[in-house]
Amino acid sequence: IPVDPFDLVIFGGTGDLATRKILPGLYRRFQAGQMPEGARIIGAARSELTDEAYRELVRAAVAEHVDADRQDGAELAGFLDRVSYTRIDARGGDGWDTLAAKMRPDTIHAFYFSVGPGLFGDLAERLNTHGIAGPDCRIVVEKPFGHDLASARALNETLARHFVEHQIYRIDHYLGKETVQNLMAVRFGNMLFEPLWNAQYVDHIQITVAETVGVGGRGDYYDKSGAMRDMVQNHMMQLLCLIAMEPPYTFDPDAVRDEKLKVIRALDPVDPDDIVRGQYRAMNGTPGYLEDAEAPDSPTESFIALKLHLSNWRWKGTPFYLRTGKRLRARTSEIAVTFKDPPHSIFGEQPGQRSNVLVIRLQPNEGIKLKVTIKEPGPGGMRLIEVPLDMSFAEALGEGVRDISDAYERLIMDVIRGNQTLFMRGDEVEAAWAWADPIIAAWEARGDRPEPYDPGGSGPEDALMLMHKDARRWREVR
Ligand code: BG6
Repeated sequence: IPVDPFDLVIFGGTGDLATRKILPGLYRRFQAGQMPEGARIIGAARSELTDEAYRELVRAAVAEHVDADRQDGAELAGFLDRVSYTRIDARGGDGWDTLAAKMRPDTIHAFYFSVGPGLFGDLAERLNTHGIAGPDCRIVVEKPFGHDLASARALNETLARHFVEHQIYRIDHYLGKETVQNLMAVRFGNMLFEPLWNAQYVDHIQITVAETVGVGGRGDYYDKSGAMRDMVQNHMMQLLCLIAMEPPYTFDPDAVRDEKLKVIRALDPVDPDDIVRGQYRAMNGTPGYLEDAEAPDSPTESFIALKLHLSNWRWKGTPFYLRTGKRLRARTSEIAVTFKDPPHSIFGEQPGQRSNVLVIRLQPNEGIKLKVTIKEPGPGGMRLIEVPLDMSFAEALGEGVRDISDAYERLIMDVIRGNQTLFMRGDEVEAAWAWADPIIAAWEARGDRPEPYDPGGSGPEDALMLMHKDARRWREVR
């Protein structure tokens, strides 16, 4: 279904995010027929570029970042017709009147701040002083949204001087992932799971976001963040919220975000013994974290595992184990809900561990799998085995799965539709920092150093121990 006509201005329109994600994503939405005749995309940046030169840049971005079998010269030409460029000086007056003149009345206006947070205030102010930002316009801001609670608050205050909350779209691209939304569909669209979704029936929940890439090329940013700030405070916290939240009364942005916020607020402080930080080491000629980050003595973690507890009625007593890291064996993100064993086995002792596990796989091979126990077929007596009820989206939905669009394109379309459900509210971001800050401060004060781990594995030994000591184990990273 096409969205309404819009003018989308991308500040930082020549940058990495714009060329890698935003513009290719918009092209795919154009192909999908979602962009109406009256859609306009205006790249804005510091460089002196003609419209034609900018279109060339967009053409190259599409060639590089859209699957070859989805590229089409005629379609691309149609898309580029909607693209133009304005040179802008974020910190000065240049270009703003030109931009103002380009914005059409009676059209949705959206401004994507695809720039460092240091420029948010300047952009917001100039959009207002030049009369470009109307009361219905939307602004989109990227992570990192702050480095700690104080800086996140300062950013929220800066934006609030110029915009009201319903105009501000804080992107966490994990919320745009297909299966992340499916998580809500599975929980609240079925009768099957929700009655069991609590500490009485759930033994524990694991959330894993494993990556094979290192931090090479991004060391500058990453070394000041580490896995806690880069992944846990935002992406993993969002996953935790969706898994743990109460059913919202309706699928309305604030109803959903109110419930997520309650989850973050219910998080207990974390025991230092329940945190393992790791750093990948050099091996067989491939550089380790310290070389990749060009920070020889860095105490920054490229891996973290934590055990969390929520103090609320639903979850008291069920631990949540989170882990994420770079340079691990495989790129895989999943959430696994392990249910408790039946209270009594009428089949006597049976070998192996056989709890029901619901695995929600975010990437790759999006899908949902439920492990159930059945009788081993054949005359060999009552021997129990475990089989998966497996729903790979690609298999179940066939061609339709082509439309598992990239998170960014889905989120940008939501901005145009004015739907904030999949965006973080200011108070959520602050609550997540309020939780993360003391944890980070404590390990900094102790001068903790991360444990080195081999690349290509599943992280440091101590991370395995984190679960072993509770007589549980991580699912394999594969
Ligand atoms: C980003 C982090 O937000 O998410 C990166 O800054 C990380 O360090 C990336 O690699 C992971 O995203 P995805 O979509 O590839 O899982």
